[in-house]
Amino acid sequence: MSLSTSVFNQPGWYTALEQAVTQHSNSSLFQLATVDDAGDPHVRSLIHRAFLVSPSSPSLPLLVTSTDIRTPKIRHIVHANIVELTWWINATLDQFRISGMAYVFAAPEHSISTSRATLGCPGIKALEVAGIDWEAKRRELFDAVSEQMRATWCRPAPGSPLKNGYGEMNDWPARVPKLSEAKTEKEKQLAELALSNYAIIVIEPLRVDWLQMAIKPNRRTFTREGSEWKEEEVVP
Ligand SMILES: Cc1cc2nc3c(=O)[nH]c(=O)nc-3n(C[C@H](O)[C@H](O)[C@H](O)COP(=O)(O)O)c2cc1C
Repeated sequence: MSLSTSVFNQPGWYTALEQAVTQHSNSSLFQLATVDDAGDPHVRSLIHRAFLVSPSSPSLPLLVTSTDIRTPKIRHIVHANIVELTWWINATLDQFRISGMAYVFAAPEHSISTSRATLGCPGIKALEVAGIDWEAKRRELFDAVSEQMRATWCRPAPGSPLKNGYGEMNDWPARVPKLSEAKTEKEKQLAELALSNYAIIVIEPLRVDWLQMAIKPNRRTFTREGSEWKEEEVVP
């Protein structure tokens, strides 16, 4: 097993992942694992929404996804914000297994927005030093999704029973505009409700296990140490 140590401006795994996601529109799905307060694991599919890179620390990219503040994954992350995700890119035959720290940025009225410490997360720290406005980023991503997607955050809490069966869903709003484009009082109320339930999850990668299946024999590298990337070639 060879060990090569190198400092990249941007780590090789990120260059490959960013390129794959940009070039292949169906490559935005990954599976995120969290643990609950009993220590039990939970995994689910999530859509990647954005990469965030501080100009002062281009080697420390962050991943952003979004969810409903009322879902169990939020409680898991608040309890234990160490997470792992696996991201299979079918177009390039790459698997990225990324472990890191997750932070929830919710509407200011939710107390979890403030209960976070970014100790050990130099990528998030660098963005904060550069003056990122997390609430503005949350609203920007909220505005970027479809009206149908926004409507999902106006439903009853995810996972709660449908007491009157599937027919109950006919009463739910099908489309919700951005707050800035709400024309009626009803639309404004729905947009505010959706925005209140909408949260972004920002993940700072700490270790990346990158398996390249397109190359024969397959290649596998395992990277990260401190705020610089150390790339170790390992047996696939
Ligand atoms: C293709 C696909 C994409 C999904 N994207 C998201 C997403 O971006 N955000 C989200 O909260 N749930 C998404 N879901 C639903 C989650 O997988 C999950 O069922 C839901 O968030 C509840 O998760 P939890 O109970 O573990 O919190 C997606 C499901 C599928 C099948």
